[in-house]
Amino acid sequence: MTQRPEWAPSGVDLDRPNAGRVYDYYLGGSHNVAADREMAREAIELWPELPLIMNANRAFLRRAVRYCVAQGMRQFLDIGSGIPTVGNVHEVAQAAAPEARVVYVDINPVAVMHSRAILEGDPQTGVVQADLREPDAILGHPEVRALIDFDQPLAVLLVALLHFVPDGDDPIGLVGRLTAPLRPGSHLVISHASRDSQSQRTAEHQALYSRTSTPMTMRTRAQIEALFGGLELVEPGVVFLPQWRPESSGDVESHPERFTGLAGVAAIR
Ligand SMILES: C[S@@+](CC[C@H](N)C(=O)[O-])C[C@H]1O[C@@H](n2cnc3c(N)ncnc32)[C@H](O)[C@@H]1O
Repeated sequence: MTQRPEWAPSGVDLDRPNAGRVYDYYLGGSHNVAADREMAREAIELWPELPLIMNANRAFLRRAVRYCVAQGMRQFLDIGSGIPTVGNVHEVAQAAAPEARVVYVDINPVAVMHSRAILEGDPQTGVVQADLREPDAILGHPEVRALIDFDQPLAVLLVALLHFVPDGDDPIGLVGRLTAPLRPGSHLVISHASRDSQSQRTAEHQALYSRTSTPMTMRTRAQIEALFGGLELVEPGVVFLPQWRPESSGDVESHPERFTGLAGVAAIR
């Protein structure tokens, strides 16, 4: 039995790896336990670029948030927000627009508890424990309603989340229900693990995640584009993580397909 760290509420299973805590390990965080690290190390052995890919995903998230602020977004609903790490959405958004409001949503109690701890007393942010597969519960949640004005444009972030939703749970339908009430000018941000450039590793990687409570479904570019449900993609469309509106030469890679994750942003007209 693993000794329970103070950041893990009782009831959190520490003997089984958890996708959110494995991701925290890839990013160099401290909210992970032996089972997570063991799985992460196996995954890295199979796929040495994984920590780089996760950092490229965080860099995409930061660029997408800055893009949304530049488009006038002042409210953000970050679903599958994860365990807080450097460059959280509220920090990036508020650096550009101090009045920006952010609600974080995650199914994982460790992510929720830690988010609450760092955001306590901040009237511009909220934290909700909820499941993406119940979009009406998210949209109607009192904490969401208190901070988000659905008569104003909203950015919905589903970053590195939808590959944890199997086809049987109808991810296209779920995204459609989340975006249906958004007013024109709103934006939808998605990044997703793809299977296109790394097909030989896909099966082994998915097999590792089947140990967690959130198995992984890596998708093709066409399947990821379909998640936008016909909304208008802003330039450059769905591309490998470092290719989405790079801000500096450090974002640009000579082999962006190494990063495997695909990302895009759509505008609601
Ligand atoms: C890889 S992390 C991504 C964190 C952050 N969005 C980022 O890109 O850096 C995925 C997060 O999605 C959460 N998650 C998985 N399935 C979920 C669901 N059905 N509803 C809400 N959150 C979920 C996990 O708990 C985890 O914290």
